[in-house]
Amino acid sequence: MADFRTPLCDLLQIDVPVLNAPMGGVAGGALAAAVSEAGGLGLIAGMGHGGPEQLRSEIRLARARTQRPFGVGFISWRLPAVPDLYEVALAERVPVIAHSFVDPAPYMAAARAVGATVLCQVQTVTGALAAAAAGVDAIVAQGTEGGGHTGTSATLPLVPQVVDAVAPVPVLAAGGIADGRGLAAVLMLGAVGAWLGTAFYAAEESLTSPAKKQALLGMGADATIRTSAYDIARGQAWPAGIALRVGRNQFTARWHGREADLQREQEQVERELAAATAADDIRSSPVVVGEVAGLVRAAEPAGTIVRRVVAEAERTLQEWSRTVLGLVPG
Ligand SMILES: Cc1cc2nc3c(=O)[nH]c(=O)nc-3n(C[C@H](O)[C@H](O)[C@H](O)COP(=O)(O)O)c2cc1C
Repeated sequence: MADFRTPLCDLLQIDVPVLNAPMGGVAGGALAAAVSEAGGLGLIAGMGHGGPEQLRSEIRLARARTQRPFGVGFISWRLPAVPDLYEVALAERVPVIAHSFVDPAPYMAAARAVGATVLCQVQTVTGALAAAAAGVDAIVAQGTEGGGHTGTSATLPLVPQVVDAVAPVPVLAAGGIADGRGLAAVLMLGAVGAWLGTAFYAAEESLTSPAKKQALLGMGADATIRTSAYDIARGQAWPAGIALRVGRNQFTARWHGREADLQREQEQVERELAAATAADDIRSSPVVVGEVAGLVRAAEPAGTIVRRVVAEAERTLQEWSRTVLGLVPG
């Protein structure tokens, strides 16, 4: 493993500043353990595996496969309805707890009581300031390019503005990073690490179905769309300004832009969507990936992805130092 450390490595007690995003339906204990074993930090999705018992078993699977730190990440605006999931993460003494889409203040005391390091993913500078005021250990600035639910600011402008707003709290970047060039770029913006989702969607250890992995491997850079159609169909009221980035398909072609009609037909469409999801029919069931889709060309082991991203970033930065700054590697 290349020597590629940032202050995030000391904070999380990891070797390289790469995390997998806690992706619902994708990131279970196997993926998290593989990322942690490769020197990064693996995150298990706190939502999307079913109930508390399933989450507990994903946590225990990760623990069985690695002695290294790992974490659990929540879509935290949903936690008031499912407090048991957070209780499981606390009871299992998971070393790192991550929140998203919420002011994490109400959750801090309980996390501190079990000694957890707390991360919070935000989509705006305002959200970052709230997370910093709550006392989180690091903030993840997520750009709209990312797969899954995102805000509207892009990673390139968002990350440095969050870095400036919350200094000295460390900031990670998420959204649009799938290789070493992306990692090098966000370090230039002042981030201390990268949180990658789409890059791990088709990883061997991910829980993604074979059809969805295959769909990602065939996508290009313009394959995705950010839409509220799935949230409306599922009757989910996400926070204002948040929508879902997914691969375009028949469902988005039919409903994106026709939200009022969708609202009227919601119950029927929800049933159809549930059936399509059960059948893994990707004409309707979402392939949840971001704009880096065109950079993911193989279903690799997660450890290979971590090592490749880090090695590429190291090469990129060395090459940049040589060609731009004229430095000779010593
Ligand atoms: C399949 C998928 C599921 C996701 N699920 C969650 C989730 O459950 N909780 C969360 O905080 N973020 C979730 N995200 C967003 C990620 O945390 C992250 O911000 C995003 O993947 C980064 O952009 P990238 O996909 O370009 O790497 C998800 C992303 C993907 C691709």
